Amino acid sequence: METTEQKKRIFSGIQPSGIITLGNYLGAVKNWVNLQDEYDCLYCIVDMHALTVRQDPAKLRQNTMSLAALYIACGLDPVKNIIYIQSHVPAHAELSWILNTFTYMGELNRMTQFKEKALKHADNINAGLFTYPVLMAADILLYQADLVPVGEDQRQHIEITRDIAVRFNNIYGDVFKIPTGFIPRAGARIMSLQEPDKKMSKSSEDANSYISMLDDPKVIVNKVKRAVTDSDCVVKYDPENKPGISNLMNIYSCFTDKTYEEIEKEFEGKGYGDFKLAVGECAADNISAIQTEYNKIIKDKAYLEELFRSGAERADRIARKTLSKVQKKVGFVMKQ
Ligand code: TYM
Repeated sequence: METTEQKKRIFSGIQPSGIITLGNYLGAVKNWVNLQDEYDCLYCIVDMHALTVRQDPAKLRQNTMSLAALYIACGLDPVKNIIYIQSHVPAHAELSWILNTFTYMGELNRMTQFKEKALKHADNINAGLFTYPVLMAADILLYQADLVPVGEDQRQHIEITRDIAVRFNNIYGDVFKIPTGFIPRAGARIMSLQEPDKKMSKSSEDANSYISMLDDPKVIVNKVKRAVTDSDCVVKYDPENKPGISNLMNIYSCFTDKTYEEIEKEFEGKGYGDFKLAVGECAADNISAIQTEYNKIIKDKAYLEELFRSGAERADRIARKTLSKVQKKVGFVMKQ
């Protein structure tokens, strides 16, 4: 049956502040792949956000290319979806400035990610780190996104985006669509393999704490083998008392679609060794298939450059419409 109904729009992004981890994959990209047919999607590489922590320029460029290649290797179709680099669409910075004037210091002060990053980078608590959520709000609101698929750690940023949008609409009328966060049931919070009470992070200094999507499969198996667990040798889902084992069960469940009960049954009477090997091999097999695709794409610089050009052009067209509307509303004289 033909339908004339417009698809709902999705916006999401990842910082190229390192090579993405299994946490980014299970919390975000894997779900994006499942949404690409049903929704009209934009997937951004948010390089401007990455600058809030000091970056090595050559590495940032390399990580940006790698992230684009990984998006596609993980299964995102670059024709169906708009894949682009944030800094290629100036409307993000322009709207962000305007929205800064509709955001309160008190609101930004409450952001837990700011507090955590300020502690971690005490020598570089820059204004960009503080206003980071406003740029994120601009990203989302520019495209009138209905849904924003992210991991659990971004929940507060989606909330502030909604607050800013509602505040603006209350003054100027219906300018922004109010977006909703779309946080997956499983995989929304993959924890560090070494400190299972902390989230897995691509910017961690301990390489054993995360699985990089470009880790050698053998390294992946070893990292899981070395993951911190407990000593009672029962595979049981209990995040409070058994955070390490519960995290590995979460990972295993994401790849196999098995429930926690099914996993508990599968490993009943078996030691952690068998369980860790199964999780490690399962992650390694899935990631290795993605790497085969990645290795083809990353070599083709011309292809990636064309992808960036066309992605930015498509994104810019949508973003400009919202930006002009906002500029008119706030009273700017429009450039003829
Ligand atoms: P970033 O780059 O830290 O992470 C990208 C995505 O991965 C998810 N994620 C995780 N999910 C599960 N377990 C983990 N351990 C884990 N670590 C990260 C994040 O929740 C996110 O979905 N501020 C964003 C980037 C951003 C953005 C946006 C997102 C900028 N503008 C607009 C959505 C819409 C960030 O730092 O993500």
